[in-house]
Amino acid sequence: MFSFTVDKEISIELFQQHHKEELYELIDSNRDHLRPWLLWVDKRRSPEDLEPVIPIWIRNYADNNGFDAGIRYHGRLVGMIGLHYIDWKNRSTSIGYLLTEEAQGKGIITRSVSSLLNYLFNELDLNRVEIQCALNNGKSIGIPARLGFTKEGITRDGQWLYDHYEDIVTYSMLKKDWPVS
Ligand SMILES: CC(C)(COP(=O)(O)OP(=O)(O)OC[C@H]1O[C@@H](n2cnc3c(N)ncnc32)[C@H](O)[C@@H]1OP(=O)(O)O)[C@@H](O)C(=O)NCCC(=O)NCCS
Repeated sequence: MFSFTVDKEISIELFQQHHKEELYELIDSNRDHLRPWLLWVDKRRSPEDLEPVIPIWIRNYADNNGFDAGIRYHGRLVGMIGLHYIDWKNRSTSIGYLLTEEAQGKGIITRSVSSLLNYLFNELDLNRVEIQCALNNGKSIGIPARLGFTKEGITRDGQWLYDHYEDIVTYSMLKKDWPVS
C-alpha cells in the first residue's frame, strides 16, 4: 500500500474503505472552507457517498494512473493530496490538494508537495508536474509559488464554479529544475 513519511509531523497514506467516516467528518466540518473552490463538496452528503469513490482512487493507484491520499499531521487526518492522472507517454502529472481550515498556515501542503516531488522525479522518473489553481485562490497559488514552480499562463474562464467562471493559472516544475535530494 502507498504511504510515506514527509517528515516528523506529516505522513501521506492512500485512502482505504475504512477511512470513509474519518474523511467524511473532515469534509462535513469544513464545507464553508472547501466549497468555494471544490465543486464535489456538495455531492458528499454521508460517509456512504464515499463508498463508490474510494475504489476508483485505489484502482487509479493500481493502474499507475495517479492516487488520492490522506495527509496526517501528528496522526490526525487534516487533508488530501493526489495526482489527477499520470501521462506516462509524456511523463507528466498534475497535483491536487486540500487542508482543513484549522490545519492551514503550518506549511503542511508545501512540505507534502515538496516530498511528493522527490518521489515523482526520483522514483517514478516523471519529467513534468503541474499545479493548477484559480487565479483568485491566493492560498493555493502560494504553494507552487513558494516551491519555485514556473507560472506558465492563465486559462481564461477555465473553470465553472456554481454561478461564475474562474480564470485558472497553470504552474509547472520540471525534473531538471527541481533540486536533487
Ligand atoms: C489551498 C490550501 C491547501 C493552502 O493551505 P496553506 O495552509 O496556506 O498551505 P501550506 O500548508 O503549504 O502552508 C503555507 C502557510 O504556512 C506557512 N508556513 C509555516 N511553516 C511553514 C513551512 N515549514 N513551510 C512552508 N510554509 C510554512 C507559510 O508561510 C504559509 O502561510 P501564509 O499563507 O500566511 O504565508 C488551503 O487553503 C485549502 O485547502 N483551501 C481550500 C481548498 C483549496 O483551495 N484547494 C486547492 C484547490 S486548487
